[in-house]
Amino acid sequence: MRLHPAPAPGDEEGPSHTRVLAALAAARYHGFEPDPDDFHNTAGSEVPSPADLVEWLREAGLWVRATRMSWHQLMKLGDTSPVVLFFTDGSAGLLTGVDAVERVALIKDPRGRESDLPVPVDELRLSEVWTGEVLLVRKPRETVEDQDHFDIFWVIRLILNERKLLRDIAIASMVTSILGIIPPFLVMSVVDQVVTYGNMNTLTLLALIWVAIMAYETLLEYARVDMVTLLAGRIDTRLNLHVFNRMLGLKLSYFEQHPAGEIHHRINQLYLVRNFFTGRMFELVIDAFMLLVLIPILFFLSSSLAFVAMGTALVMALIVIAFMPALRRITGQVVRAETRKSTHMVENIHGIRTIKSLAIEPQSRAEWDLRVADAADWRIQSGRLGNWPRTLVMPFERFIQRGLIFLGAYWLLSGTTTLDMGGLIAFMLLGARLAQPLVSMSKVVQDQEELRFAIGEVGLVVNNPPETDAASGGLRPKIEGEIIFDKVTFSYPGQMTPALQDVSFTVPAGTMLGIVGKSGSGKSTVARLLQGINRDYSGFVRFDGNDLREINLRYLRRSLGVVLQDNFLFRGTVRDNIIAGRPGLTLEDAVRAARLAGAEEFIERMPAGYETFLQEGSTNISGGQRQRLAIARALVTDPRLLILDEATSALDPESEALVNANLLRIGKGRTMVLITHRLSSLTDCDLIIVMDQGKLLDIAPHRVLLERCTIYRQLWLQQNRHLDSHGPRHAAPAPVPIEAD
Ligand SMILES: Nc1ncnc2c1ncn2[C@@H]1O[C@H](COP(=O)(O)OP(=O)(O)OP(=O)(O)O)[C@@H](O)[C@H]1O
Ligand SMILES: [Mg+2]
Repeated sequence: MRLHPAPAPGDEEGPSHTRVLAALAAARYHGFEPDPDDFHNTAGSEVPSPADLVEWLREAGLWVRATRMSWHQLMKLGDTSPVVLFFTDGSAGLLTGVDAVERVALIKDPRGRESDLPVPVDELRLSEVWTGEVLLVRKPRETVEDQDHFDIFWVIRLILNERKLLRDIAIASMVTSILGIIPPFLVMSVVDQVVTYGNMNTLTLLALIWVAIMAYETLLEYARVDMVTLLAGRIDTRLNLHVFNRMLGLKLSYFEQHPAGEIHHRINQLYLVRNFFTGRMFELVIDAFMLLVLIPILFFLSSSLAFVAMGTALVMALIVIAFMPALRRITGQVVRAETRKSTHMVENIHGIRTIKSLAIEPQSRAEWDLRVADAADWRIQSGRLGNWPRTLVMPFERFIQRGLIFLGAYWLLSGTTTLDMGGLIAFMLLGARLAQPLVSMSKVVQDQEELRFAIGEVGLVVNNPPETDAASGGLRPKIEGEIIFDKVTFSYPGQMTPALQDVSFTVPAGTMLGIVGKSGSGKSTVARLLQGINRDYSGFVRFDGNDLREINLRYLRRSLGVVLQDNFLFRGTVRDNIIAGRPGLTLEDAVRAARLAGAEEFIERMPAGYETFLQEGSTNISGGQRQRLAIARALVTDPRLLILDEATSALDPESEALVNANLLRIGKGRTMVLITHRLSSLTDCDLIIVMDQGKLLDIAPHRVLLERCTIYRQLWLQQNRHLDSHGPRHAAPAPVPIEAD
């Protein structure tokens, strides 16, 4: 049977494929509109694979999962949002619901009209065509987790997600601690019954009970540690994923204003959070529970001894609490000193080339010495101070553990207590168990303090406003390349003078636009606004009439190609660096982009060609080569809008000429913004903007500017004094011909 006509050969590719249509319909149901043009078929086969569909819908911001299901599981779906069913002939259907009474699945043809009624299909008929694979599509989980303020409650909510594990661990811990209480009573019975009355049978029985308890305790402890390890792993994973995500989502300006070492060190405090929730927290719960069980028993055995024990414990707690404020202050100092240390370290690793070339290692070392000494100093102080309460508490702790026996024995001898010998020994053994939880409970304040501090440190980073308000929502309009600045004024945070002032211009799609101006005139700022890095400007920036602030940020950036003066290449092969992990790109795309960027020739001369491995910071290629790779990386997606900000200033004249000669070809079919100091690179531009102190002075082609813009003429003459004013063409470097592809 056929649920719908099979796709005719020839119209399988592209958005018309039923699998893509089915996935699209499932996405639309949730109010999402993924662009079918964004779908990349990486599998190489004509039939879109579930994995590619997952990738595509995820990019669009949906929650998606490809999985296998049985008929039975389908029947349990009930009133479901549409589920994509994959069929053996490579097509797909849309399950819109099930009728559990009639035992039929309600399936729609994704090619049909919206108003078409679904067809009921029973198990037998479906099993003939269905591969068993489905695509579950949902709205992304209302991500409380993702947006909420990161604080202690957030962490607790995260941990409560693991309720079942927590409950099991708690039960196991409590049972083990109760089991731990029994042996002292066995000892008490041994002393009272066996030793006093010489009862051998009782001894055997008690020994057997003890062995049984021990075996049980051992197994339980194994299970408990196993579960705690699992829990620790899960909490760790979630915390790390979340924090990294939040960090990636922060505004660029945050990273520009905070040293990398500081951010890194702060985020690293996460380990304290993890340690607490997977170690200390359980100890605390067990301790509290221990006390809850132990204290009544002790009072039952001997209330006077129990009172003495409790009084001693109270004194211990008071000692610890008395030292708390001073310790807290010193801990703060230790952390600040450690952060300074880490900041210096990371900064030096980043800047090592400059440090070595300036030969300022001694200065750097001296600074490090200072910071290390400072940190060590605070650590020693904190250690010394911490030693005080520990020392002061010790005699009291020992008293509960051992000293009580003297008091008990004295009372026993003088007949002031009803306690017998066995009871006294049991009290001693239990008392020893009391001391440790009491001490540790008295440090709860300190634990809580440390935890709050660690969470606060991480929060200082991740609670900054993300730039991605528009990342999940926002328009995804087709960007053709028209750029409009409409009375744009912008100041960097904390800066008095605006970096851009009342800038207005319009360039049609496909323009090659040059921007010139003195250093600090606001050229790069224009480029930053175009990328949506800074969004708090007044006025409007529009792409093809769409307000930039309404466009989905990730979509916008993927539609742009940007090359800066200094570009970061990742560790990996040349090919990986050009493709940069973007889906659906192949080696052919990389080769095409490299040719356009003038990089092909040197890549092919490299020992392993496109598979050559680049070190971190791309130390094994030259600056000019790095720059051309960066241009290729920007070009590989064939962006509608390409921004080159001083992209060729690091190049030697020959490579620059190579890129410049290619500019016309690079710019073909797209809008290109060329920011440069070298005016000779701009003579081919359709329009050139002249900036000065944040203002737009003029916008016109080269020849016109030469006549009417004084500043432009001055700049031109400065750079081309050696030339006769025969005309601009002479100034351009001789184009190096490159064969067309
Ligand atoms: N991240 C930033 N934070 C604060 N102020 C900045 C920042 N970037 C630039 N500025 C300021 O904004 C003004 C314009 O800078 P912009 O980088 O746009 O100049 P530019 O024309 O690109 O200069 P150059 O030719 O030297 O690259 C400058 O006065 C600069 O001090
Ligand atoms: Mg600049």
